[in-house]
Parts: sequence; C-alpha cells; structure tokens
Amino acid sequence: MNPIAYRDRALFCDNVALADIAADAGTPTYVYSAQAILENYRSYEAAFGAQPHTVCYAVKANGTLAILKLLAQAGAGFDIVSGGELYRVLQAGGDPKKIVFSGVGKTAPEIDAALTAGIFVFNCESEPELALIDALAHRHGIQARVAMRVNPDVDAATHAYISTGRLAHKFGVDIADAEAIYDRACQHENLRFEGVSCHIGSQLMNPEPVMEAVDRVLNLIDRLRSKGFDIRHADLGGGLGVAYKPEESTPDISSFIAQMCARLKDRGLHAMIEPGRSIVGPAGVLLTRVLYRKTTGDKNFVIVDAAMNDLIRPALYSAYHEILPVRETNGQRSIVDVVGPVCETGDFLAKDRELAEVMPGDMLAICTAGAYGFVQSSNYNARPRAAEVLVEENSWRVIRKRETNEDLVRGEVE
Ligand code: LLP
Repeated sequence: MNPIAYRDRALFCDNVALADIAADAGTPTYVYSAQAILENYRSYEAAFGAQPHTVCYAVKANGTLAILKLLAQAGAGFDIVSGGELYRVLQAGGDPKKIVFSGVGKTAPEIDAALTAGIFVFNCESEPELALIDALAHRHGIQARVAMRVNPDVDAATHAYISTGRLAHKFGVDIADAEAIYDRACQHENLRFEGVSCHIGSQLMNPEPVMEAVDRVLNLIDRLRSKGFDIRHADLGGGLGVAYKPEESTPDISSFIAQMCARLKDRGLHAMIEPGRSIVGPAGVLLTRVLYRKTTGDKNFVIVDAAMNDLIRPALYSAYHEILPVRETNGQRSIVDVVGPVCETGDFLAKDRELAEVMPGDMLAICTAGAYGFVQSSNYNARPRAAEVLVEENSWRVIRKRETNEDLVRGEVE
C-alpha cells in the first residue's frame, strides 16, 4: 500500500501529516514510512515460502542506522559494498552471518574487517581478489566462503548507468570463463567455493532478463556440481524496479520471486537476493519548501529549498520523481520546472511538469525518494545535508539530524 496519500486535502505519510513534520523538522527533510519498508521486506519473505532463502537488503539504497535496525530486527540479511556499510550494519545490530560482501574493488582493510566480523560470503569479482581474500583468510586462520559473481551477458533493459550484466560492464567475471576460474581457484586452500552470484542491473521493470540470468547461473551451477564443487547457494542479485510515474505500476514482488522459485525447485539450493530500491524506494519522500516563483521567457520556475545535492537522480539519470503539493488545491495547474538553489543548470527536480499553483512557503513532497536519495546526497555548494525522519504508525522521530555549518568543516585544517 502506498504510504503517501491525501486525507482531506492534506498529504499524509501513514497517519502523520507531512505539514506537521515540515513545521517541526524544517525542510528539506527525507521522510520514510517504517510500515511500508517492513511490508515490502515481508513481501519478499512471504513469496519465498518453503524455498530456503535469505533476503539481503542492499544497504547502498539507504544505509541510515534506524532503517538498517528496522530491517535487522525483522530478520533481514544485508548486501554490503564497503567497509563503511559493514560498520553501519554492525552498528545497527545486523547479523554478520547474514552479510554478503559485493563490489569490484574491495580493499585489504575492508576484507580484513569482514573476516573479523565473520560475514557469510564474499561475492568475488576477479581472480586477483580471490588471491587477496585467500591470503588474508590464511592470516586469520580461517576458510572464507566465496561465490564468484558472474556476468551472464544479458541486457537488463534499464538506464545505461545502472545496467551491470553485459560483458562491457566492469562487474563480475564472464560466465563463459567461470568454470575455468573455479577450477584454477581450487589451489586457494583458505577459500570455500559455496556459491555463485549475479546481479544484472537496477530499476528492472520486467522480470524476463533476470530469469534469463537465473537460468544461465543455474546451468553453471549444474556444471560446477557435476565437477564436484559443493555449491550450496545462488545469489540472484537485486534490481526489481518501482513505479516512479503515476501511470507506471510497480512490478509485483510475489510473482517475481515465484518465477525464481519455480526455477530453483528441487535443486537443494539456498537462494539469496539483494533488493534495495523495491524495499525502501516507495516508502520515502523528500519534503521541500517553495522559496520563489519566477518566469523567464516562456519558462516558469518554482524554486525550492531542496537541490541536486539532496536528490541527484533527476540530474544524473534524468529520473522522474512525482511531485505532490503537501496541501492539495483546486487551483489552476501550470507547466513548470522545479529547481533548487545550486548553481548549475542541471540542478532540477522536475522539468516541464504540470503542477498545481504553488506559492512561496508551500510544501512539496518529492515522491519515491526512499532509495538512492539521501545516500547520494552531498555538501555541494556548502549545503548541509537534509534531516531524515521515520514515521512509525501515528508518531514520527528524527533519525538523522540536519547537518549544521560546523558539520560542513569538521575534520578540516586551515
Ligand atoms: N546488488 C548489487 C550487486 C548491486 O550493485 C545493486 C545496486 C543491488 C544489489 C541493489 O539493487 P536494487 O534492488 O536497489 O535495484 N543510484 C542508482 C542505482 C544504483 C544501483 C547500484 N547497484 C539509482 O539512483 O537509480
């Protein structure tokens, strides 16, 4: 269920009026619904049914401690891509035995920290990385569990910057070379090859390319098993998309997972997945206040207090985010660009968008901003980063304070 809805013309997040949050916490502020996050997570859990599985939430989508804690308490595992994300998950009380460590450029200190924490598995992306993990595991006196991330060479049909499953992309090893790599890697005595992983991209609206990749991965697992490799799990990545436009519909988590489970049936494999966006994306909005309106030539601008440093997706991927007035009016609608204060022409949140007449002081909610929103924010133009708020049923609380000017210069030396 969409947590963001009008009641008597006032926009609510669950049972809390967004205007109340804006009045108290100020703007720009990210607001998330705890209930929506848990519902999305539980849809994955429920859809797997009897199939052994671990849902590893992709921390990169939104790594704020309160959100990680919410998911950890619900039983989630975590997909991390850095030592920083490992630290966050451990701080939030996540179970290290449910952590998968992905990424093409893991450093020795990051691998060390993960070995110390006792994570479940490293998703390895190259042979030199295998050699490094082997050497470090030796020093720890343990065997590290590894899964090669294979690149199945399928077209994920998504934005070029977030498509990862073609051979021209930097991710994983060519699936055609994978068998030979597993064969060669047997020499590493401190590694246990227990899985195979893949991830073909993000914001996938169509399950077909994923199922194509799953078939290729399962085929590889059959071949590895027939050679004697004790492959126990298949990590099938994340990537399920969400509806950003009102006319789109969000792909159904249950049917997506059901299609995966049909392929996994009777194979004695533990399934792992790494969803991020589909868990937190629709659960969050970015609240912003209108500062000014102006018209130049035939362009109408609505200038707001959130900018590309707060939400970079429109500037970076030409992404569309629905924008709703926090107080609904019957007024006239007009075509506007919604822009922020940052000194770049690329600083827009919406272009040529039909929007209800809004005036300085009015609040807007930029929708579907729970994933890849705050995490990709920066201090560009020396703008303190936004506050974050979590709505829990009828109440709300600040889960990250708005940054101050002191925060902006912390760690600097004159
Ligand atoms: N696993 C791996 C190995 C990944 O690289 C990613 C996302 C995920 C899981 C989670 O994918 P999700 O379920 O969230 O689609 N900043 C971009 C998205 C980048 C995605 C990177 N990798 C955006 O704002 O659209």
